[in-house]
Amino acid sequence: MVKIKKISDFNLHSKKVLVRLDLNVPINNNKILDNTRIKVSLPTLKEIIKKKGTPVIISHFGRPNGKVNKRFSLKKILKSLSNQLGKKIIFCNQCIGLKVKKILKNAEPTQVFLLENLRFHKEETKNNNKFAKDLTKYCDIYINDAFSASHRKHASIDKITKFIPSGMGKNMENEVNNLNKYLKKPKKPITAIVGGSKMNNKINLINTLVNKCKYLILGGGVANTFLKSKNFNIGKSIYEKKQIRNAIKIQNKAKKNNCKIILPLDVVISEKNKNLDISKINKNHQILDLGKNTLNVIFEIINNSKTIIWSGPVGYFEKKPYDNGTNKIATLINSKKKLISIAGGGDTIAALKKNKKIKNFSYLSTGGGAFLHWLENFTLPGIKALKK
Ligand code: 3PG
Repeated sequence: MVKIKKISDFNLHSKKVLVRLDLNVPINNNKILDNTRIKVSLPTLKEIIKKKGTPVIISHFGRPNGKVNKRFSLKKILKSLSNQLGKKIIFCNQCIGLKVKKILKNAEPTQVFLLENLRFHKEETKNNNKFAKDLTKYCDIYINDAFSASHRKHASIDKITKFIPSGMGKNMENEVNNLNKYLKKPKKPITAIVGGSKMNNKINLINTLVNKCKYLILGGGVANTFLKSKNFNIGKSIYEKKQIRNAIKIQNKAKKNNCKIILPLDVVISEKNKNLDISKINKNHQILDLGKNTLNVIFEIINNSKTIIWSGPVGYFEKKPYDNGTNKIATLINSKKKLISIAGGGDTIAALKKNKKIKNFSYLSTGGGAFLHWLENFTLPGIKALKK
């Protein structure tokens, strides 16, 4: 088996270390809403500084579609990153070319650099060979510490590993170790909870989960699509018409595999926050959370499970009282110290953090799409690339 090099396997002294981070943090009016991704990046940066190397940080931020766009400048993250690292960071408004060459030529050990958004170049998302080579031109070592972006086969994740010695950072190591520890040979019975507004990015995962789980609990827009496929009236609730056929196929597959899909029996609707039986929904209603009876069924299932995998809130958690279902489920899981509980995804983590009942979760992954991809494949393109 090819072993991936860790940061501790490199001599970092006087080396310029190109560190791929995921600084794609949620932001509103230039205010960072959640700094988890910055926090998890710090151990790798600190290690390089401690060993007298020079961290040269690269990252994407948003989806600027290959064009320079101030709205997506990484300069917006500079202050927060620098404050949390406790060190001045020198910003370069390019990520390749002469400006980078000039700035890095006289770089000294322990100085820290942040280069501009990789996605200002269309070559990044195209996994372009030359762009990857240009990124590495003035550095000695490449470290991928961006677990949450490593499901993307992009130049700074994949092709880049061809050009200089490469390895993984501490956050990547932590994610891989924890996900392997809990999910490679999970304790059974396994229950998966899949929610969120959209189903299209979770379809492969749901397909995989019905092979592994005893129970698959559905909430949010995902559940609505399944309800619709069973001809329930869901009124004005969100669902995905294009996924109805897939929902039917998955239900058939689940039956064959003895996986029980749990759909809402009752729900909370927007009108006066009423708790209604699912058969009572009319064309004007909008489903916004799971109902009391459904939650009781879910509690019993959780009480009888050994492993819980959770991706996506089960209701419209951003708005009270529709965060009730997600909060109550989180509170129960958090109270069960022997239960293995793994959650991932930006929305899921945001919902759990809001609820502040996460202390006893076994592991929270920083990955959204990457977490889903890992659950399906037990690896990511960015991890495979480091094995080359
Ligand atoms: C994420 O937020 O999931 C990662 O940063 C990847 O971003 P992307 O979906 O724009 O590739």
